Amino acid sequence: MPAYPRTRMRRNRRTAWSRALVRENVLTVDDLIWPCFVHAGAHSQDVPSMPGVARLSLTDLVENVVAARDLGIPAVAIFPVLDASLKTLDGERAWDPDNLICQAVRRVKAAAPDIGVICDVALDPFTSHGQDGIVRDGIILNDETVVALQKQAVVQAQAGCDVIAPSDMMDGRIGAVRDALDAAKLPDTQILSYAAKYASAFYGPFRDAVGSKAALGAADKRTYQQDPGNSDEALREVALDLEEGADMVMVKPGMPYLDVLRRVKDRFAVPTMVYQVSGEYAMLHAAAQNGWLDRDSVMLESLMAFKRAGADGILTYAALDVARRLRAG
Ligand code: PBG
Repeated sequence: MPAYPRTRMRRNRRTAWSRALVRENVLTVDDLIWPCFVHAGAHSQDVPSMPGVARLSLTDLVENVVAARDLGIPAVAIFPVLDASLKTLDGERAWDPDNLICQAVRRVKAAAPDIGVICDVALDPFTSHGQDGIVRDGIILNDETVVALQKQAVVQAQAGCDVIAPSDMMDGRIGAVRDALDAAKLPDTQILSYAAKYASAFYGPFRDAVGSKAALGAADKRTYQQDPGNSDEALREVALDLEEGADMVMVKPGMPYLDVLRRVKDRFAVPTMVYQVSGEYAMLHAAAQNGWLDRDSVMLESLMAFKRAGADGILTYAALDVARRLRAG
């Protein structure tokens, strides 16, 4: 390519039509997944560390999912918030077919059958200690947890969940969950693996929302979630989950891990989701509330960054707002 002055990079940028023509990536409503919280109370409750996010009552959840569907959002990811008194050492409520999340899925599917419903598979909303697995003597037991996750996956899929999303990071859980779904005659239930999930401090506001922060106390999840210093390891995690039968994989958190997202997409060329986690959402909103950043612009720019880094889909708490913005043009 000839250099300046024959080449002038600004030529293509001079007009809006030209910028539109040469744009390499676009963000559309089809890219969005809306993560949301449901609780058993009659009224929705704001989550203070996530402005604009609430623990929704079942009725409000259904209403909002219908709104998401009407906006063209392809899927929602529903997280249950249990009262502390219902949490146990082993999290047995996770595989109770009448638990809150199964009730929520049935209600949502009845009202909006044509939007995808994603459910986490992990024990943390259900355990009194806030860990994603079964704990004995301070150790998170891998294989015992995997059996619990199989049961949790099956009740959720039987309730109508379309996509099972193991977020627990136990070894071998994708293959085990696939086997359990197939044995329960649910071969069409998809699996979205939280394949490269880091032990991140950016999950703080989510843990406020589901109440697992108080339960966790000073404990952490570093014996199962990945070390933020590693990215080759993420590729091994993704390879294993695909071998075990994952239909889609996820990188999480998002913005601090764009390099991992790009490596995963380049290496495997499979449907790759990214999670703009609670702490990322909280940072952008907190700055916007102070008048330091323009909320809508930084949100759209950060979601575009995920597309540029190779994401096929993005979980964002701002999905409804963003969909409205995108539709307004
Ligand atoms: C549960 C789970 C977490 C998130 C999604 N599923 C928290 C954690 O692993 O502690 C985090 C989502 C967010 O921060 O927005 N296993």
